[in-house]
Amino acid sequence: MTTPPAPHGAEHRRGLLREGDRVQLTDPKKRMHTITLGAGKQFHTSKGIVEHDDLIGRPEGVVVTTGKGVPYLALRPLLEDFVLSMPRGATIVYPKDAALIVGLADLYPGARVLEAGVGSGALTCSLLRAVGDQGYVSSYERRQDFADVSAVNVETFFGGPHPAWNLTVGDLTPSLRAANAEGNDAEFDRVVLDMLAPWDCVPVVSEVLAPGGVLIVYVATTTQLSRTVETLRTDGRWTEPRALETLLRTWHLEGLAVRPDHRMNGHTGFLVTSRRLAEGTVLPPRRTRPAKGAYGEDYELPTA
Ligand SMILES: C[S@@+](CC[C@H](N)C(=O)[O-])C[C@H]1O[C@@H](n2cnc3c(N)ncnc32)[C@H](O)[C@@H]1O
Repeated sequence: MTTPPAPHGAEHRRGLLREGDRVQLTDPKKRMHTITLGAGKQFHTSKGIVEHDDLIGRPEGVVVTTGKGVPYLALRPLLEDFVLSMPRGATIVYPKDAALIVGLADLYPGARVLEAGVGSGALTCSLLRAVGDQGYVSSYERRQDFADVSAVNVETFFGGPHPAWNLTVGDLTPSLRAANAEGNDAEFDRVVLDMLAPWDCVPVVSEVLAPGGVLIVYVATTTQLSRTVETLRTDGRWTEPRALETLLRTWHLEGLAVRPDHRMNGHTGFLVTSRRLAEGTVLPPRRTRPAKGAYGEDYELPTA
């Protein structure tokens, strides 16, 4: 059997641990430290010293022991480990939501994705992984300081600049319009928005998303959720929006004490999804009528 070629970047390094690899060390209390291996280097902790040379040339999943006899498990970090420990500018999209976004957006190798804002670049890493080297992720971030953080994070994760990533510092709407005015007309298969006021970007997104393309909006509050959905409906170029959230409950596993953990992250955000209609298409009226009062007392129900 032949081994398939390694995909792009250091993140996919396989085989024995080598210089330059990022390695996550976990102590018996499950505390984690990430180090970058270098010949002759040492990792110092209050529990003793780990010699990098004790790891270089060995497989992942080995245990090394400090001079004080404390064992550390060594593994290359997964994407989930990386984003939870990387430097942050803005709040990140957590792995549970990033995984769902990749699935709901139906991302595929080669897809052309528009993303705004980038924040710390956590979601960007998932998007780039899903579209691969042959895809394209065009990301917009209006704050230079956050863009800088995200660029470092993405490059660190992929072990260098990702060939499918383009980062623009600027507000999404004026930046895209300016690019289009210069003749750089862009068309995307998928759009992912994570920002305070995504409804402001619906008009420009409607212009650049291909018919049938998927829009995913991540919002933190119900007021943002409502305004996003109503803006999409009013815009009229979209399928009926769908909204959902995911609650992730981890479990305690100890002998007969197998039960949900006492603590969980109760709320991260809501996801809104919708698809771009073909130009000129008018969505047939909804068969299910809004609940009485949903739009206020004065609202007249449309006649089907
Ligand atoms: C919550 S953060 C994004 C976090 C990111 N998804 C991650 O996983 O690391 C929201 C970001 O959107 C940016 N932003 C807000 N409105 C924007 C706009 N109209 N165009 C570009 N960026 C915008 C903010 O500066 C902020 O960095």
